[in-house]
Amino acid sequence: MKVIFVCLGNICRSPMAEAMFKQMVTKAGLSDQITVDSAGTSDIAEGSPADSRTKAILAKHQIEDDGMIARQLLPRDFDEADYIIAMDKMNVADAKAMAPAGLANKVHGIYETTPGKEENYIVDPWITHRFDDTYYSLTESLPGWLKKFQDELEAGN
Ligand code: 4NP
Repeated sequence: MKVIFVCLGNICRSPMAEAMFKQMVTKAGLSDQITVDSAGTSDIAEGSPADSRTKAILAKHQIEDDGMIARQLLPRDFDEADYIIAMDKMNVADAKAMAPAGLANKVHGIYETTPGKEENYIVDPWITHRFDDTYYSLTESLPGWLKKFQDELEAGN
């Protein structure tokens, strides 16, 4: 199973989600069954490392940062991934617009599996500078995805 987290630049929110979710998957003993990646809907930061403020948040919470480099979402990602999970409404719309025919249904909003908060999104810390809020929002929204994937793996999907 493969999941790709997506934001606009792939330097703030989606690399934070990638690193956090990798740690959750590893702790759940599923790192050989769930592949975690991230990408941007734009190529605005292509080739850049994660923002230093994202790196600082990860370090503060003892989450491994394996040297993620920003890249743009590609058509083949839609073939390879089972879930493309986007951070805000614009990211969802942009990712769907980039999807090859028939694959837009792989794009989901980050809070979609969080009961009672399905319509929530994660605002861009590039604008707000509130990287702690991004981290907190991901601690809220990522567990629902892990649970969903565990259920699917157990069901043999
Ligand atoms: P991200 O944040 O989408 O969470 O990676 C951004 C990073 C860079 C820019 C915008 C958003 N930018 O305009 O360069």
